[in-house]
Amino acid sequence: MDVNLGPGSAVRFKRTVTTRSEDTQTMDHAPQLIQERSAPPATLVIFGASGDLTRRKLLPAVESLARHNRLPDQFALVGVARTPMSDDQFAESALAGRSLAEKRQLQGGIRYVAGGYDDPETFKRLSETLDELDAQRGTSGNRLFYLSTPAGAFEPVINGLAGAGLNLERENTFSRLVIEKPYGRDLATARELDGVVHSAFDESQVFRIDHYLGKDTVQNVLALRFANSIFQPIWDRSWVDHVQITVAETLGVGTRGGFYEGAGAMRDIVQNHVLQVLALALMEPPVSFGGENLRNEKVKLLQAIRLPTDRDIADAAVRGQYTRGGTRQELMAGYREEVGVDPLSRTETFAAMRLNVDNWRWAGVPFYVRTGKRLPARVTEVALQFQRPPHLPIPADQLTELDADALILRIQPNEGISLRFGAKVPGHSFRVRTASMDFSYEQTFQEESPEAYERLLLDALIGDASLFIRSDEVQHSWGIVDPIIEHWAKDNSPIPTYEAASWGPTDADRLIGRNGRKWRNAA
Ligand code: BG6
Repeated sequence: MDVNLGPGSAVRFKRTVTTRSEDTQTMDHAPQLIQERSAPPATLVIFGASGDLTRRKLLPAVESLARHNRLPDQFALVGVARTPMSDDQFAESALAGRSLAEKRQLQGGIRYVAGGYDDPETFKRLSETLDELDAQRGTSGNRLFYLSTPAGAFEPVINGLAGAGLNLERENTFSRLVIEKPYGRDLATARELDGVVHSAFDESQVFRIDHYLGKDTVQNVLALRFANSIFQPIWDRSWVDHVQITVAETLGVGTRGGFYEGAGAMRDIVQNHVLQVLALALMEPPVSFGGENLRNEKVKLLQAIRLPTDRDIADAAVRGQYTRGGTRQELMAGYREEVGVDPLSRTETFAAMRLNVDNWRWAGVPFYVRTGKRLPARVTEVALQFQRPPHLPIPADQLTELDADALILRIQPNEGISLRFGAKVPGHSFRVRTASMDFSYEQTFQEESPEAYERLLLDALIGDASLFIRSDEVQHSWGIVDPIIEHWAKDNSPIPTYEAASWGPTDADRLIGRNGRKWRNAA
């Protein structure tokens, strides 16, 4: 099956065939439809080249694209940062630990420009370097500028690019801007940033990253819903009792305390990752995944989310902060004890909300979302819980451990899908218990999923913006979380706490429990 996500793009699935001997083998399905995707000649320019994201995610993504032959020979990489470094030193850091073949492919096409982001000289040198690479490597004047700096540097870098004319697209060339999150810290600052971006770049040149959209399992929400017919009829208010979306992390803030203090769970995860996954799971079927169709449907869904009024918020949103916890063997520090964190901090490390979507498909169905650091398990999932049967012709004492039917989309880890339903327990009596049908990515497919950043970098090089966030999506998302963040900022009562390695503050159980529902907590 091929799922096209825009021009020149294809997600390749292999079908598992079970032979009579129960062996499994994989077979290409309709190979003539599979388009291999690879980047055109281009230079990738990374601002923030000496930073953590570059080292952990971007350079490994470039390396993997090279290894999988997705980059042409006419590809070059330029790092820009304040830290002084030579081309060779940067190349060394970029290629450290890479195989010889990748080194051969990338070497010679790696440059480094050291300089301040508010210094026009930096951009002059960058421009000269890019011209040189066009002449030497044949990168054809195509440029992808990746802003992997702290958000404070976005504006000077964009102004610097515009000052050197690097934002302009000449005939048959592209100049694109990839922007990392956080995109603003509320609606007002996101609009200001849009003003800066749009003063130099057209929206069609802008690629705002939410790395969750680069995950295969997030894209599989689209495959499940729109490449199959059997789920569509039950995907609405007549069948679904409620939906839970969980993004749970076991890690604390680690070394990012300074950044996190100014963010909190709502800005860090809910405004972007959670609302994006929610939009994909609940939106209407798009005409196609290409062009603007997918993003239009997401925007319509975000617009249909009912904004909580100041009175509703206390009832519909819960925050929490982790305190010291764990076991004697593995004691974990509380948030206020972490490096870079104010010992009296009121920043939330846990957030949960109940949302309503005011449209024909979902009116009346509650959506519970939650995210937190230092929870007992790492799990990201979307769980649709279905309504109980209208009448059960089975005595209650024979329904041992029978939960409501549920469809669980496991984004990570143990990537896959489970359908949970009641089944008869073997034996002479008629007892019914919950059973599960499981699809596992690992067992079904042979190929490994590309890292999210790899997929997204390739899309940006190709010019496919379907999996990037449009300006109006960002604004609607801030519109949803802003009232809650503001409400919490005004609330002087002590922030609710939860022990590290527990499932969040008790208020979160109350939030969902009001209607007799319970969070699905992984064991
Ligand atoms: C980032 C957040 O966007 O996503 C981090 O800033 C978080 O705080 C991370 O840990 C989670 O990403 P993943 O891919 O590990 O689920």
